[in-house]
Amino acid sequence: MEMYRRTFAEINLDHLQHNIQVLQRSFPQVPFLCPMVKANAYGHGDVQLARFLETLGIRHLGVCLIEEGLLLRNFGVKAEILVFRGFDREGAEKILQYNMTPVVTSWEQIDYLEAAATGPVGIHLKFDTGMNRLGFRPEEAQKLFDRLWQNKKIRLKALVTHLFNGEDAVDPQGLSAGQLRALHKVSELFRPFEIFCHALNSAGILSAMLLKDQGLPADHPLALQNWGLRPGLLIYGYNPLVQKNFVDLKPVMSLKSHVATYRHLRVGETVSYGGTWTAKRESVIAVVPIGYADGYHRILSNQSSVLFAGRKVPLVGNICMDYLMLDVTDVVQGQDLKGFKDQEVTLFGYGSDGTFLSPEELAVQAHTITWEMLTSVGERVPRVYTGVASGFIAEEIGG
Ligand SMILES: Cc1ncc(COP(=O)(O)O)c(C=O)c1O
Repeated sequence: MEMYRRTFAEINLDHLQHNIQVLQRSFPQVPFLCPMVKANAYGHGDVQLARFLETLGIRHLGVCLIEEGLLLRNFGVKAEILVFRGFDREGAEKILQYNMTPVVTSWEQIDYLEAAATGPVGIHLKFDTGMNRLGFRPEEAQKLFDRLWQNKKIRLKALVTHLFNGEDAVDPQGLSAGQLRALHKVSELFRPFEIFCHALNSAGILSAMLLKDQGLPADHPLALQNWGLRPGLLIYGYNPLVQKNFVDLKPVMSLKSHVATYRHLRVGETVSYGGTWTAKRESVIAVVPIGYADGYHRILSNQSSVLFAGRKVPLVGNICMDYLMLDVTDVVQGQDLKGFKDQEVTLFGYGSDGTFLSPEELAVQAHTITWEMLTSVGERVPRVYTGVASGFIAEEIGG
């Protein structure tokens, strides 16, 4: 890989493997384990991760766009690929041509598939139980049953819903519990199809794990059936629940750069566009070649800290498109700057010395969520794979 600027996202495949194994151990009998690799695998590199996940025994992968599924197929991914976004007539043809599995969300989509299908097409059917985004209303279940029962072109394999407030799934009276009960009720109607159901995102899965540890009550909606799993954030190493310590997840991505140059500022001088930060003492400023065009949110200007030589140092001045600046005075004071030449900087994740800065913390400062911190990492930031399978990735796929 050509890299003239040492700014990159380090993707630790050992950590990904660990997170998958946590799931596989906790849910040995699950009917469906479908890691979500949409949005470039939450910024981690979809082709590389999909291929690696296959080696871990993963047989289903979730994407949003047909385009994302095509990319995986074109790079030789064999796993069943579920397309969640919905599709038009042309999209239906592509999905079938590339042997992907449509998650059907509207009546038109059933028409499109029937028109395009030559043999029976396996589908998952999505019900809207409260997200109010995509899917059929539970009241439409009987009509759908009639349309799909003994249908020669379409074979129903699973029912789907999406939790819109998965963080409350522990609570048997919560919003998620209501959604799970609603899908379970629909699934009873569809029992002659021999289907399974999937509904649990990371928050739902972790809630189920938490309750299992405490003894899951038989009448809890999470125990109503053997729910299939669609983990996203969790496999990338983060737990969105308030309770954190019951599960050991390992963050997969570390966003790194290095110091390009240092500036010595006199009292009263300012840094970057708009001069929003003024030196109140003689200061040493490190210039780091990563900016908002690489996905480091500009709103973090004068807000966040980053890891520099094992210490957290403040980011000062406005973040530029290609650069940001750090006040490293406290770390380098009294020392020869030659010792800090090309010093590694960790924007989030693990520094080479094992220090860690969480993107969860940055997400709060940036008024966003961990998902956005990860998926924002820009296209021009190379992904560098480390860990056991990095050799496999480099040889088989490149990169
Ligand atoms: C349909 C669907 N299922 C599962 C997920 C995974 O969610 P999470 O990253 O919270 O686990 C997503 C992500 O947005 C989704 O859209």
